[in-house]
Amino acid sequence: MKKKISPEKILEMNWAYAKTSILAGAVKLDIFTHISRGKKTVAQISKAAKSSPRGIEMLLNALAGLGLVAKNKADVFSLTPEAAEFLVRGKARYLGDMSLHSLDLNKIWLNLAQCVRSGRPYTAVDKKDAAEDYFSVLVRGLFQMNYPCAKYAAAYLKAKHKKISDVLDVATGSGVWSIAIAEEFKDARITALDFPEILKVTREYINRFKLSHRYRYSQGDLRKTDFGSARYDLVILGHICHSEGKIYTQQLLKKSFRALKKGGLLLVAEFLLNDNKSGPLMPLIFALNMLINTNEGDVFKTAELERWIAAAGFSKVEILDKAPSVSPLVLAVKK
Ligand SMILES: C[S@@+](CC[C@H](N)C(=O)[O-])C[C@H]1O[C@@H](n2cnc3c(N)ncnc32)[C@H](O)[C@@H]1O
Repeated sequence: MKKKISPEKILEMNWAYAKTSILAGAVKLDIFTHISRGKKTVAQISKAAKSSPRGIEMLLNALAGLGLVAKNKADVFSLTPEAAEFLVRGKARYLGDMSLHSLDLNKIWLNLAQCVRSGRPYTAVDKKDAAEDYFSVLVRGLFQMNYPCAKYAAAYLKAKHKKISDVLDVATGSGVWSIAIAEEFKDARITALDFPEILKVTREYINRFKLSHRYRYSQGDLRKTDFGSARYDLVILGHICHSEGKIYTQQLLKKSFRALKKGGLLLVAEFLLNDNKSGPLMPLIFALNMLINTNEGDVFKTAELERWIAAAGFSKVEILDKAPSVSPLVLAVKK
């Protein structure tokens, strides 16, 4: 029997951007935080959000439709467990900054067809000025996203490798990966590398975690920075290979190999694709994000990255696919 087809999937996609806008609009107006502080009716929430009751009622109803708030028969609103955990400002796992970033990305993504046609980006965030603009807010959102996975990685390394003293955190952003390492390995000293404006944000996080005495900073372009030779026990490449692209990633892996002591470890956090590049969906979407936002960026197949890591000289390449993240971790050893 012929499979029945329906336009539902396509019609749903036509409105997908509206979900992002509803979420980000609510974050911008701090709706979830107001509800968590006891504002529960349209009148109370619209007053707290300095917004029209007409708009707030529609927004709250849409949020209820999306499962982010609940509404009872008396028109009193409350947060669902996800909203209470991830969308209330000040909560440890707050993800509101990522929603605001998605709204900014939305505007850039309007240029997708043009970027596909030309093969060229709309912006190039792998260059200093654009990177500093783009990442100084984003790395805060990425901290929230990556910290649980960074803690997982640090615990995994601690269980297997007793001693890590010298660490290079390339493209450190908020310092999320090396902060977790520093918390687990109490003697570790970290060198954090990024562009100068981003390192201001890094310092903020390092101070917050009271780790400033364990950090030194290397400011500049990772493509031009000499990582040195046989200096580190661990080199971290946290979500940087996708914006570097094929050629620069292979160079970065070779530089990382040289920078490690014998027995040293490479930790890569990265989106990875299956063998025929048919999934998972998030890395497929992210590859287009790299087309729009970088000169060379791409998302690689797991086998491809493993091959480059081995070609750089590493052995024992291990994929930690149980890590709590959409992007797996890759671990390799310099024997
Ligand atoms: C996606 S963020 C990752 C941040 C952090 N490692 C994490 O996983 O959350 C990429 C970082 O790489 C930095 N970056 C990009 N290109 C760079 C370059 N050529 N030299 C130095 N840093 C660079 C950006 O400034 C940004 O902080």
